[in-house]
Amino acid sequence: MTNKLKYFIGNWKMFGDLASYKIINKINQFVLKSKNLTRNSKIVMCLPNTLILPFEKKLKSKYLLFGAQNCYHKDGFGSYTGSVSAKMLKNAGAKYIILGHSERREEGETNKIIKKKIISALNQKLIVIFCVGETLKEKRDKKNFFVIKKQILESLDKKLNFNRIIFAYEPIWSIGTNKIPNINYLKTTISFIKKTCIKNFKMKKVPKVLYGGSVNSKNISLFGLITELDGFLIGGSSQSSKKFIDIINNYYK
Ligand code: PGA
Repeated sequence: MTNKLKYFIGNWKMFGDLASYKIINKINQFVLKSKNLTRNSKIVMCLPNTLILPFEKKLKSKYLLFGAQNCYHKDGFGSYTGSVSAKMLKNAGAKYIILGHSERREEGETNKIIKKKIISALNQKLIVIFCVGETLKEKRDKKNFFVIKKQILESLDKKLNFNRIIFAYEPIWSIGTNKIPNINYLKTTISFIKKTCIKNFKMKKVPKVLYGGSVNSKNISLFGLITELDGFLIGGSSQSSKKFIDIINNYYK
């Protein structure tokens, strides 16, 4: 297995309460025991906002980092009832933030709004995990590259700090469905994302791209064959310490 830094990023979605700390603690203990892992990987758990600060305070000796799953598109403080800004998430202890997730897009988030969110998260020096991906219909209609390109070009621009943006390719039809793309399709899409960014934003470094969608301990070895991948965004399987640890163990087997 390659020595390149790999990301294992959990997305808890709308899951967890204070008792779920035991999951975090087990994962952290597991990672701390392995020198190879602390050297070769970044392990991040993107939590609901309610858990970031309590878990951040409780986890003393830690390798695991915390992230958020969304933020309001305006930063700082203001009269926006029910909203949480990137500044507030940063204060709570988030280091990473998922933006542009398809479950947020389904709630009406446009590329334009996502761009504003990305800018405010970057202003707070959060690392952005920017999600892109096509629906099944778009894939069948062969519009996948068109859609992904549009998501990238409308949500980013060349003035942004790309050192703090990690892409996550999440085909919507694979999220929570146990369906995964075939290796060639995945490889082609990842290189398309990388090329689109390099060409349009004159990026000096090749961007990091993760895969997300039904990643589990059984299919992870298949993804290990794709050297172009920089890691994984893991939803359902990150809500169990055993499943999450098995994914990492099987990846490095
Ligand atoms: P899943 O979710 O692993 O449950 O498919 C991935 C995601 O939504 O980020």
